[in-house]
Amino acid sequence: MNVPDIERREHYLNINYGIRSWLLTTDHKRIAWLYLLSVTLFFFIGGIFATLIRLELLTPQGDLVQSETYNKLFTMHGVTMIFFFLIPSIPAVLGNFLVPMMIGARDLAFPRLNLASWYIFILGGVHSDGGGGWRGGHGMDFLYPLQQHLF
Ligand code: HEM
Repeated sequence: MNVPDIERREHYLNINYGIRSWLLTTDHKRIAWLYLLSVTLFFFIGGIFATLIRLELLTPQGDLVQSETYNKLFTMHGVTMIFFFLIPSIPAVLGNFLVPMMIGARDLAFPRLNLASWYIFILGGVHSDGGGGWRGGHGMDFLYPLQQHLF
């Protein structure tokens, strides 16, 4: 097989190009790409929060944001980096891409469920960074026991 033949061969990246084909895909390699793009996006969102924290700490007065907003930025930076970047990055990206090939399977066992989990991941991220997460967010006291008046 010479080089042009290989380029013409159908594979997971060129079998369908439309956005719909990506959003409804059940191919484990494409889902791995969806995860890779999403965790990268969340990494940059967490990076924006880190930048704001750093800018606040630039001067001794710390007069860029209110102290409550600072606590929320701190919380949301940590939550975004850990739950939407660090934890999903290796199992979701590498796991989806490599595991079926390593075990010689054509795909994962429940491909639609695999895609559904990406949608749930995105919903969680949008809900958390886009509103829900900011409601508590005074440092780590959004954790349930710490929300009690006792603390
Ligand atoms: C993958 C995980 C994480 C990455 C890649 C990350 C990345 C960063 C970066 C690049 C900065 C800016 C550093 C600077 O210029 O000072 C920063 C600052 C900060 N991060 Fe994270 N972070 C992560 C997780 C966390 C977690 C889990 C927490 C706490 C819950 C946290 C709390 C902070 C705080 C308080 C700062 C401000 C520190 C300072 O500027 O003095 N980070 N982070």
